[in-house]
Amino acid sequence: MTQGGRDRSAGETGSRPEILSASTWADRVAALLADRLAARPELVVCLPTGSTPLPVYERLPSVLAARDVSAAHATVVLLDEYLGLRPGHPARCDALLGKVVVDRLRPARTIVFDVDQQEPAAACAAFDRDIAAVGGLDLVVLGLGRNGHIGMNEPGSAPNAPTRVIGLAPSTREAAIRYGADPPPTHGVTLGMAGILATPEIWLLATGAEKAGILAATLDGPVTPEVPASLLRDHPGLRIIVDDAAARSVRSPGPS
Ligand code: PGA
Repeated sequence: MTQGGRDRSAGETGSRPEILSASTWADRVAALLADRLAARPELVVCLPTGSTPLPVYERLPSVLAARDVSAAHATVVLLDEYLGLRPGHPARCDALLGKVVVDRLRPARTIVFDVDQQEPAAACAAFDRDIAAVGGLDLVVLGLGRNGHIGMNEPGSAPNAPTRVIGLAPSTREAAIRYGADPPPTHGVTLGMAGILATPEIWLLATGAEKAGILAATLDGPVTPEVPASLLRDHPGLRIIVDDAAARSVRSPGPS
């Protein structure tokens, strides 16, 4: 699955964001996912948890059903996971993915980090092996973190950072408390920057005014590991889909 071997989709917006109203944003992202599944039923898609994609996941079953598209042959890969939370803890990323994606879409296969049976480093190695065994990722969908992280690639993550154990930044730990993990985990495991950047198609999602500052820094500031999302900007398969509240501080929004 090389970059050159895959068609670029019509309407791809490059490193300038596609800006939608809050009421249409989730419909748009769900429709795009339906497009990808229709074009490639065996899609291998890495998905985030967190709050940003929840409205997309809510709409997906009806959007897919309306188009007679199924995820039954797809592989869903979890982007990241906390360490130190018991199996089934509601803040666990695998628990949330199960509830909001897997139970609804019933994909053929799900790849998560096996942090309960294996040491974290071994779980990372197994995760990468599992992805390689299905031929690699076709698409990775990312929420933009408050500090510019993508997955749990926190500030300071280099473009070649592998799938690994990482110490969580303060804002990530605060978010974990909001998701129900109190006290919050100190560490997580994440698909690395290298794995993200090796994926032919990357979608970066952001919604709400609280993401306005970091979205502007991501798109208009320096390309730097201090804002890991900025490292996506040169990727030829990048698509940035945001709502107008998140986009309000972006310098030159470009065509939408
Ligand atoms: P959010 O989290 O979607 O809950 O805002 C995004 C992130 O921190 O990765």
